[in-house]
Amino acid sequence: MTENIVIPENILPVDGRFGAGPSKVRPEQVDALVSAQNILGTSHRQAPVKNLVGSVRSGLSNLFGLPEGYEVILGTGGATSFWDSATFNLVRSKAAHLSFGEFGSKFAAATDKAPFLDPSEIATSEPGTRPDFAAVSGADIYAWPQNETSTGVSAPVVRPEGIDEGALVVVDATSAAGGMAVDASEADVYYFSPQKNFASDGGLWLSFFSPAALERVEEIAASDRWIPDSLNLKTAVDNSRKNQTYNTPSLANLVMLDNQISWILDNGGLSWAAKRTARSSDMVYRWAEASEFARPFVERPEDRSTVITTVDFDDAVDAAEVAKVLRSHGVVDTEPYRKLGRNQLRIATFTAIDPDDVQALLTCIDEVVAQMA
Ligand SMILES: Cc1ncc(COP(=O)(O)O)c(C=O)c1O
Repeated sequence: MTENIVIPENILPVDGRFGAGPSKVRPEQVDALVSAQNILGTSHRQAPVKNLVGSVRSGLSNLFGLPEGYEVILGTGGATSFWDSATFNLVRSKAAHLSFGEFGSKFAAATDKAPFLDPSEIATSEPGTRPDFAAVSGADIYAWPQNETSTGVSAPVVRPEGIDEGALVVVDATSAAGGMAVDASEADVYYFSPQKNFASDGGLWLSFFSPAALERVEEIAASDRWIPDSLNLKTAVDNSRKNQTYNTPSLANLVMLDNQISWILDNGGLSWAAKRTARSSDMVYRWAEASEFARPFVERPEDRSTVITTVDFDDAVDAAEVAKVLRSHGVVDTEPYRKLGRNQLRIATFTAIDPDDVQALLTCIDEVVAQMA
């Protein structure tokens, strides 16, 4: 009876938040909210909030070492809303997608269904794997996630060989940005929501646009395509340049995001963050490989994410029960992606999550399974 299982307090992680997003917010970010009391509840069209947006934009530019001419563009609505914006404002006539999980498939569906575009070319693969890059005749954007949060498969950010000159590379970095290394010059649009490695809240999207992407936005805005106002990227670019968003953002989110960017920079930047997540994820994969009841879900080591780990369990051990026991001890959100339907745990190893807590979690899982036997 799993209700009777007790995990000794001394082996529990200090912080029990291992969710894939919303994810652990550091206590210092919450303190930053208290310190920002004079900004919370004030106009986003006035200097104090605009300076905060400016700090987020310059902090990101610094953190990612953005190449000359790249700009940090932001808006409300999260990455999901950005897919619709990209469909309206970035695709000239045809998109090519790598779709290897829930999130990649949603963006692919958005461009594929758009009545003003040609059908999209969508390369798919079995869950836990990813398709290879291939040039597609007539495609003017290439899109894929750097990290597929639903499966824990990651893909490189590299301009695919042989693509048409001027084709844009559009990378969903929602769960990768701030925890995985990237050469920003390999993408024309690198976009993300801040509730993952940036340990903030949902509802906002941030992105880096190359000069070619900024030009594409201008080109399509000048065409006769109808674009809904809230999804208009020219409006987002114009507002971002003024350190604003088109409509009202969550100020608390911006405060927490700004604090997390500074924290990563103060600790050594993106390479520090990438090493920290690699250390945590290595622990999980090594533990799973050595385990008698668990194994990494993603077979090819080079495809395994360093920020979202997925671990399959033998039929003899019910992973959902393990997650339930962990939850009853304050160790939360280790359940797998709901639509994947596997006997699995998914453990985020985002930058904010302490590697020592990941180690403690693994010890707790072993303890729970031993008590279940
Ligand atoms: C890779 C990826 N893309 C997009 C999204 C959607 O982000 P949001 O919920 O902020 O719209 C998520 C959310 O988990 C994600 O993991």
